[in-house]
Amino acid sequence: MGEDTWAGLADQFVDGAYASVKGYVRTYVMHHQLMEQLPPAPASVLDVGGGAGHQSFPLAQIGYDVTVLDPSPAMLDKARQRLEQLPAEARRRVTLLAADGERAEEAVQGRRFDAVLCHGVLGYLEQPEPLVEQLCRCAAPGGVVSIMTGNAHAAAVRPAMERRWEDALASFDARTEIGVLGVRGRADTVEELSELVRGYGVEPARWYGVWLFADWFEFGGVELDPTDAERIAAVELEAGRRDPYRRLSRVFHLVGRKGAR
Ligand SMILES: C[S@@+](CC[C@H](N)C(=O)[O-])C[C@H]1O[C@@H](n2cnc3c(N)ncnc32)[C@H](O)[C@@H]1O
Repeated sequence: MGEDTWAGLADQFVDGAYASVKGYVRTYVMHHQLMEQLPPAPASVLDVGGGAGHQSFPLAQIGYDVTVLDPSPAMLDKARQRLEQLPAEARRRVTLLAADGERAEEAVQGRRFDAVLCHGVLGYLEQPEPLVEQLCRCAAPGGVVSIMTGNAHAAAVRPAMERRWEDALASFDARTEIGVLGVRGRADTVEELSELVRGYGVEPARWYGVWLFADWFEFGGVELDPTDAERIAAVELEAGRRDPYRRLSRVFHLVGRKGAR
């Protein structure tokens, strides 16, 4: 692990982004999609690049055995603080591990998990392959691999909604942009990522959009009413399941299953 590049982003991401209506939507939609795909608790879950545990602590609360692996001491500190807020029973089901995702298999000492999550991480890496290979290796036979990342097919949505028309025109074939946290991020496509996981023995089963309207309002300069958060999340969940909406989501969630060997 090198320098902690997330040290300067941890507050913004954990206390800012997740505290917004969009943050609520992210947690709600991802949790519901995971509930459609994960084996029942108590199954084991490895959350690679799990950060402060927003996606996997809710799983620990309903009985899953969760390991959060992340290279950032700052993000793991946030995870520790959030962990203290959980009931003791859920806390006991969570292990925090400091390691790069590219060395996940070694860090978990070869353990295989019923589900491996990697949400909002690939976009920060120059090349997704080494990390994706590790995710697939850490899944048990028949286990689930769940990846959420930026959708390269929807690159024009943000600049267009922000009325940055030249950027929007240039973005159609672009793979990177300065993201909402102010750092350059890279986007993937469902097709390419599906091909990639298939090469590591994981068969894509389903893909979803994660949020759509929340982005449009935010980038269009309209503040969403926090008291509408639950209703918005219900709409986003439905949009994420079907075309054409899911295709326009700036983020997609791909779920695959490892072959039983
Ligand atoms: C946007 S946050 C997402 C956190 C969490 N997965 C979630 O959805 O709330 C990105 C996380 O990726 C982690 N990360 C960055 N590079 C990584 C790598 N090479 N391997 C594993 N995690 C990495 C960061 O430390 C950070 O916690």
